[in-house]
Amino acid sequence: MKKIIAMFLTAVLCMTVLAGCGNDAQKTSQNKEVLIVGTNAEFPPFEYVGDDGQPDGFDIALIKAIGEKMGKEVQVENMEFDSLVASIGSKIDLAIAGMTVDPDRAKSVDFSDNYYEAVQYVIVPIDSEIATIADLENKTIGAQLGTTGMFKAEDIAGTTVTTYNKAVDAVNDLINGRVDAVIIDKNPAEVFVSKFPDDVKAIDGAQFEFEPEYYAIACPKDSELVKEVNKALAEVKEDGTFDALVAEYIGEE
Ligand code: ARG
Repeated sequence: MKKIIAMFLTAVLCMTVLAGCGNDAQKTSQNKEVLIVGTNAEFPPFEYVGDDGQPDGFDIALIKAIGEKMGKEVQVENMEFDSLVASIGSKIDLAIAGMTVDPDRAKSVDFSDNYYEAVQYVIVPIDSEIATIADLENKTIGAQLGTTGMFKAEDIAGTTVTTYNKAVDAVNDLINGRVDAVIIDKNPAEVFVSKFPDDVKAIDGAQFEFEPEYYAIACPKDSELVKEVNKALAEVKEDGTFDALVAEYIGEE
C-alpha cells in the first residue's frame, strides 16, 4: 500500500513539474517570472565584468531594482553591443547598456523613460592638440561598433573609422598610436582615462558641439513591458534607490 501511495505521489509530482515546463514565461526556483536582460559589459561604470565574472555596474543594479518592483527575477546576458537591439523579443526581453535613445533604434524597439543624461567625449593622446571638430577631420578615429560614438566619428569629414567590439581595445590602439582619437560616452571615457593618466586625456564633447544624449531601457515594440518598466523605474526613483545607485556606482549628482 505504501508503495502505491509513493508511486501515486511521484506521478503527481512529475505532472506538476511537466505542467510548469509548458508555461511560456520562464520560472525560477522561487517561482518568479524571469526577465532576460541583455547588456554589453564593456562600459564602466554602467556595466563591466565584476571580480566574480558576472556583469556588474550601475545599469545592472538598476535593472535588478526594477525587476524587484515588477516581481520578476532578472537574468543578465552579456553580449555584443551591436547585437542587442536585434535580439530584443527573441533572445532577450529587454536591453540595458547605457543605450542612447536614437530614432533609428526606435524604429525597432520602444524606449523606456530616460534615466541618465550623457554626452560623447573625445579621448586623445596626452600631448595632442586636437581641440575642435575641425581638428578631427581626416583623422583615424576609434569607436565601439554600433555606438553613437561611431556614428559621430563617421559624420566628421574625411575620417577613417576603426571599430571595436570592446571599447577598451580602442583606447589601447590610441595609446599604441593606431588611431588619433576615440569617441565614447563621458563616464566610460573618464574611467578609461583614469587607468592611463600619463598617456591619454578626455575632452568634453561640448567643445566638439556634441549634443547631450539620453540613456533608456530598450523594450519590445508595442508591448506592455515598456509600461511596466516605466512604472517600476518611477518607483525606484521615488523611493531613493536610484539616487543611492548613482552615488554607489557613478559618484556624482
Ligand atoms: N551610448 C552609446 C550608444 O548608445 C554607447 C553605449 C555603449 N554601451 C555598452 N554597454 N557598450 O550607442
